[in-house]
Amino acid sequence: MMKSTEVFSAKEFSDMENIRARYQEPASAILPLLHYVQGAQGHLSEQALTFVAEFIGVPHVRTFEVATYYTMLFTEPVGRHLVQVCRNLSCHVNGAEEVLQGLKRELGIDVGATTPDRVFTLVEVECIGACDHAPAMMIDGDLHRSVTVDSVSRILNSYREKP
Ligand code: FES
Repeated sequence: MMKSTEVFSAKEFSDMENIRARYQEPASAILPLLHYVQGAQGHLSEQALTFVAEFIGVPHVRTFEVATYYTMLFTEPVGRHLVQVCRNLSCHVNGAEEVLQGLKRELGIDVGATTPDRVFTLVEVECIGACDHAPAMMIDGDLHRSVTVDSVSRILNSYREKP
């Protein structure tokens, strides 16, 4: 088995042990662990996915399957801020496409890409639960509702200097 220190800091490993301990069946901790690792390391590297699989006693392929199935999990490095634009019906009919075009223009990148300064990554996601204030988007953990093309620049600027 790979050593934890090859992939994680002592604190990260300790946090992961705490997460695993919350579940009677270690394999049930797969999503919380992947979510944690992504938060701690920015993405899910091949090494991290391999380690987590061994850590909870599932075949290696299982963590890779989960990591590539969910749109909120990333196997490649992403920018410091993750911009997630909802593409579902309520947002679509209320101007999500215009907002998305505005974001692409403002950031100078396409969907799925990261700005050259690695500050922003732009992705489309399924419903984020703010249909009554569509169009909506999330940046990191912040929900932005009733977004307009005109507000895109201001919203992005408020993140540029944030760590
Ligand atoms: S459809 Fe966009 S938040 Fe629900």
